[in-house]
Amino acid sequence: MHDFGYRGARFGCEGVAVETLARRFGTPLYVYSRHTLEHHFTRLRAALAPLDPLICYALKANSNLAVLRTFAELGAGFDLVSEGELRRVRAAGGEAGRCVFAGVGKTEAEMRFALRQGIYCFNVESEPELERLARVAADLGTVAPVAVRVNPNVDAHTHAKITTGTYANKFGIPFEAVPAVYARAARSKHLRWRGLQMHIGSQLTTAAPFAAAVRKVAPLARALAERYGIEFLSIGGGIGIVYQPALASGSARWWRSAASRGVLTPARYAEALVPLLKPLGLRVLLEPGRFLVGNAGILVTRVEYVKRAGRKTFVIVDAAMNDLIRPAFYDAYHEIVPLRKASARRVRCDVVGPICESGDYFCQGRLLPEVRQGDYLALLSAGAYGAVMGSNYNSRPLAAEVLVAGRQAALVRVRQPLARVWAGERLASWQRGAAR
Ligand code: LLP
Repeated sequence: MHDFGYRGARFGCEGVAVETLARRFGTPLYVYSRHTLEHHFTRLRAALAPLDPLICYALKANSNLAVLRTFAELGAGFDLVSEGELRRVRAAGGEAGRCVFAGVGKTEAEMRFALRQGIYCFNVESEPELERLARVAADLGTVAPVAVRVNPNVDAHTHAKITTGTYANKFGIPFEAVPAVYARAARSKHLRWRGLQMHIGSQLTTAAPFAAAVRKVAPLARALAERYGIEFLSIGGGIGIVYQPALASGSARWWRSAASRGVLTPARYAEALVPLLKPLGLRVLLEPGRFLVGNAGILVTRVEYVKRAGRKTFVIVDAAMNDLIRPAFYDAYHEIVPLRKASARRVRCDVVGPICESGDYFCQGRLLPEVRQGDYLALLSAGAYGAVMGSNYNSRPLAAEVLVAGRQAALVRVRQPLARVWAGERLASWQRGAAR
């Protein structure tokens, strides 16, 4: 579901015409809809109401402070992977006590910071990490709340780069090894087992792999609860969204049509998982990222040139792979629409950015409405893993971000000033003109 669409000939976000935002704030520009964010969160929470889960938003998907505040106000917890992310959550007004800390490479400094902040749990991914955590907790004279991330060796049937729950991946502790890890660490005075966690992959479009993983892990969770008193099972994130094609908005109709097309809706997800999880009697945690923010954001860009070369047409825009890397990195599909419905003529074209790489494209050989220099385009469903994966490649500044709520629009990230792109760089002491 999303709150973007044409009102007459103009593409809008909630009550705002997106072109006015593009003119006011410039492009490339990310635009987020508060209503879409809230709607996805409340829809998921309602579907899973029988479990009363703690929904820990995986902020790696979109960590803008205004987005985090939106979820904090809805009562979300957070799934984070670095000290920086924990500091962001705190800066946005989120509670440390509702945060879980994931990731295979937590440093000592990160552990110390998170322990001092009082996070809910560390999701530990190896025995060396567990040993380090016990040591850091001992130094601080405290007890670290921990869960193992179990690798259930279940194929999520998604893109290879975002599959995480098989033994070919670096994540988690192999299923068979988990009981011995709990037994060993239970002897430590500085660790307290709090839960069990898993995350099998991202952009899953059916419930079957989730159900297979939960079926496999539930008996283990039950045994660990009996033996060590763990209180939660986290089933991770991974709920996929619709990228292609963008559906008409309007919530009830949207979910009905999505369900009839076999989309993994919250209702379907709940239908598959609630019967497996409810009997466990454990607190259930979820770590959705993409599902909450993916459809809630678009990337707006301006057409700089239309270049015809032989039989090809290249629409060259001012956004590039440094702004949205998903097409280049995962061959991901993002729907592309003009902000003004003008021409009925369609042209087969590649939409490309200005970066000096052949991989710098947003689509190839796609039939799109004919556009001209100066027109604006929107790349849809860019709210997850969009702005956060931005870089300064080709010395391009990070894009600006706007949050819309009804008829209001707020700039929630200023476009990075160009001089900031190299602000941390210095000449070497032996170079002419270097500060001494
Ligand atoms: N929990 C853990 C431990 C994770 O590693 C992730 C995502 C999530 C939760 C949230 O997963 P989600 O609900 O968003 O699927 N950049 C890629 C996606 C990378 C996902 C990384 N981990 C993309 O653009 O598709």
